Amino acid sequence: MPSEKLEVGNPVLRAKNIIKHFPVGGLKRGRYVHATDAVSLDLYAGHVVALVGESGSGKSTIAKLLSQLVPITSGTIELNGQLINKHSRRKFKEYTNEVQMIFQDPFGSLNSIHTVRYILGRALQIHKKSLHGAKLQEAVIELLQRVKLTPAARYIDKFPHELSGGQRQHISIARALAADPKVLLADEPISMLDVSIRLGILNLLKDFRDNYGIAILYITHDVASARYFADETLVMYAGRIIERGNSEMVTQHPAHPYTDLLVNSAPDPDHFNALRGEAKGEAPSLIDPPSGCRFRTRCPFATELCAAQLPPTVKAATGQEVACWLYTDNPGAMVNIGNKGDLTTIHDLNLPEQVKAKLIQNKEEK
Ligand SMILES: Nc1ncnc2c1ncn2[C@@H]1O[C@H](COP(=O)(O)OP(=O)(O)O)[C@@H](O)[C@H]1O
Ligand code: SF4
Ligand SMILES: [Mg+2]
Repeated sequence: MPSEKLEVGNPVLRAKNIIKHFPVGGLKRGRYVHATDAVSLDLYAGHVVALVGESGSGKSTIAKLLSQLVPITSGTIELNGQLINKHSRRKFKEYTNEVQMIFQDPFGSLNSIHTVRYILGRALQIHKKSLHGAKLQEAVIELLQRVKLTPAARYIDKFPHELSGGQRQHISIARALAADPKVLLADEPISMLDVSIRLGILNLLKDFRDNYGIAILYITHDVASARYFADETLVMYAGRIIERGNSEMVTQHPAHPYTDLLVNSAPDPDHFNALRGEAKGEAPSLIDPPSGCRFRTRCPFATELCAAQLPPTVKAATGQEVACWLYTDNPGAMVNIGNKGDLTTIHDLNLPEQVKAKLIQNKEEK
């Protein structure tokens, strides 16, 4: 669900119901890792969408699907309103020019035997074959300036191992920009970097959003950086999007019980457990994911309905879209809930008033 700001114009990149099931133990055995299930998202020019979730929730798979590094099992991807035809090589090349990826590991993603001059020159030539000689050198220098590695002469003849992690990530970003992309897919671009330089990278990406109108998908497990950087935040759990909306609301007033866990456990991993009682446990296996709501094995509010049926996605009073039975008017969802947590906690929850009333009533009856 795009925020009001995001509804302006058409999405540059649109993914609809994309599914990726990786075969495990050979195709014959018929078992699959359900890495992403029915994920839809829109990326708009000049906006950042954050994709937040624990390790293993399917975030990188989304980036790989959107960059066409791996084929989708089903669903569709549209770039500038055009359905992507995975069989056309020319279309594929056009696509990779427009949709560039920045990886988590700036150490592994740059070829160590080449200088910055070669790495960026090559990236420019892949996308603009006519660039040669002095013009190419000028373009390399301009790229270095765009990513704030100045004076460019200090960096241009360096090998990757002569640069710090942060500088290498700047080079990776410059390499992505060489293609003059419309979309950047940034998969945890700061998580391997020193805390002191993370903000610099995010501000650099912000600059591209604001001054070049690039659409950015920012993948992270760090809720605070999503709040700082992204216009819209999508929360992923076990391969599915479980909450989405304006970043401020999602991160400050989470609606889904899992987002609440993620947000409140940021400074203190036991916070959620301490407050809500029984949210302990690990993310489920994606080979045989739980029926119904995939969070039910950890959710303190889970009911039989949660196990029986996938919760629909509905709008919470605070504006987010949330996939949770607690936010529907289905009275069946409210049977048996409220076994866990205490009354003070219930009052603080960002739940519909009638659900809170039911929780409190259940609690008082016990
Ligand atoms: N090539 C693959 N083959 C089989 N399983 C995979 C493959 N790539 C990722 N997975 C699985 O898909 C799930 C999601 O992984 P990933 O997208 O990397 O999550 P995240 O980026 O959120 O940590 C994990 O269970 C992972 O083990
Ligand atoms: S649908 Fe049920 S199990 Fe899932 S988050 Fe909501 S209450 Fe918890
Ligand atoms: Mg990942």
